[in-house]
This record gives sequence, structure tokens and C-alpha cells, in this order.
Amino acid sequence: MRVVVVGASSGLGRCIGVGLAKRGARVALLARRLDRLERAVEEAGDGAVALACDVTDEESVAAAVEKAAVALGGIDGVVYSTALMTVGALRDVGANRWADAFATNVTGAARVTAQTLPYLEKSRGTAIYLSSISASLTPPWSLIGSYVATKAALDKMVEAWRWEHPDVGFTRIAVGECAGGPGESGTQFGSQEDQAVLTAGIHDWIRRGYMTGDLVDPDDLVHAVDAVLRLGPSSSIPHLALTPRSAPRTTEGSS
Ligand SMILES: NC(=O)c1ccc[n+]([C@@H]2O[C@H](COP(=O)([O-])OP(=O)(O)OC[C@H]3O[C@@H](n4cnc5c(N)ncnc54)[C@H](OP(=O)(O)O)[C@@H]3O)[C@@H](O)[C@H]2O)c1
Repeated sequence: MRVVVVGASSGLGRCIGVGLAKRGARVALLARRLDRLERAVEEAGDGAVALACDVTDEESVAAAVEKAAVALGGIDGVVYSTALMTVGALRDVGANRWADAFATNVTGAARVTAQTLPYLEKSRGTAIYLSSISASLTPPWSLIGSYVATKAALDKMVEAWRWEHPDVGFTRIAVGECAGGPGESGTQFGSQEDQAVLTAGIHDWIRRGYMTGDLVDPDDLVHAVDAVLRLGPSSSIPHLALTPRSAPRTTEGSS
């Protein structure tokens, strides 16, 4: 299985890229920070390639996808993990930040899909997009409304791609809270945003019960992605959600 993972320099995308390679896939790891991708490739092992790619730049995406297809000898799967989390009350999010969020989370996904489509049509492959439970399973979380709006747009766009190209598998995975893996596989989500506002958001998400302290294990996410990619071409999984399951609560006196 030959898989392109976009947004593989940190967090969930890195876990997925390295994890799929460990399960026997040949992977091309794409993102802007090449030094990080090269370290991920070392972890992924033989046959993995690191390719610099900025999803907001048409030529960068076209060049990276072509290099990936040549290096892998075709493409069976694409995983779009790239996203930008914009933090702030909607009244404070200016037009430029809206534009950045849509360019990275939605238009970038459209660009990657358009460039990889000919390869996926040929292989009868599958494209997977990481989305968020905050866009489909719960009310929009406070102070990340602009991010949630991009994920809702992404969800609808994935559906539209499926209707236009029913011969290709299109799957969105709504993910619940996941910290990623160790070291550079840890999530960097929101790290460049205003930490005081993010902390206020986290307090509200805990109060409303959206955040419970339970986390999705990144290995479970890799397992789900692997299973979707390995599905035969007769069927497709339009969407699935991966939410944290509560750890058993020990009660006093229980054995
Ligand atoms: N972590 C969670 O709890 C959680 C929950 C629900 C959904 N998700 C979803 O899971 C996905 C991954 O999140 P994460 O926590 O792993 O975030 P992360 O650690 O911030 O990773 C984001 C990735 O996107 C890449 N990226 C950002 N801008 C890019 C651009 N212009 N061109 C190419 N790549 C770009 C980054 O690489 P470079 O900066 O090197 O380009 C990085 O590899 C996202 O779609 C997110 O919405 C995460």
C-alpha cells in the first residue's frame, strides 16, 4: 500500500505516517518543515520519503504529489491531517485569520485531492481527511468557532468529492481529543495561538463535558486509518468518529 500523508511533521499526521509504515505501507510524508519530516522518515524506515509541501501553494502541492507518486510508484491512499487551529471569540477573528484557516484546512485539502485524484482513480484508492467531533458530534466548542467552521466546510467538501467521484473512496474521520505520540509526534495544535484564550477555552470545554481527560490513543487512530485504507474497492466508509473512551473508574472498596 502506497500512502501520502499530508501534515506528517507533527502530531496525529506523524503518528499515522510512521504507524502505517510500521504496518507495512510505503509512505510519503509531506509538510512544510522538512527537517522534522526527515526524522520521521528515519523512524518509518526503508522506502519512506520526506517531501516539503505547503498546502496553501498550488505549485508546491503539484510538485510534492508528483514526486510522491514517482517515489512510491503510484498512490493508493491519501491522509489529509494538516490543519490550523484559530483560537478566539468569533468577533475577534479578523478576515486574514479566517482566510488562513480556510486556506489550510479546506482549500489545501481540495488542492491535495485534485492533484492526487488521477492516481487514486487509477488505483481505486481512498482519501481520508481528519476532521473534528466539534464540527459534527457536539455543539461548536467555544473560542474555536472559526476552526469548527472550517472543519464543517471540510466535511461537506469531502461529501461533494464523493458524489463527483464515486469510484474513489472518500472518508472523513471526526477525531476526539488526542495528544499524539512521544517527542515530535506530540500534537502542536494551538501552540502558536494566544495561550490565555486557549486556556479559557479549555476550562469551558471541561465545564461542558466536551473534554473529560480521556484521550484517543494514537495507535487506535492508526489502526482505524489503516483499516479504512485497506478496505476493498467494492465499498467505502463515508465517515467515522473516533472518540475517547472513559478509563475504568475505580471505586472505593472495589476489587
Ligand atoms: N489533536 C487533537 O486532539 C485533534 C482533535 C480533533 C481533530 N484533530 C485533527 O487532527 C489533525 C492533526 O492535528 P494535530 O493535533 O496533529 O496538529 P499539529 O500537531 O498542529 O499538526 C498539524 C500538521 O499540519 C501541518 N501543516 C500546517 N500548515 C501547513 C501547510 N500550510 N502546508 C502543509 N502542512 C501544514 C504541520 O506541519 P508544518 O508546520 O511542518 O507544515 C503539521 O504537520 C488536524 O486536522 C486536526 O484538526 C486533532
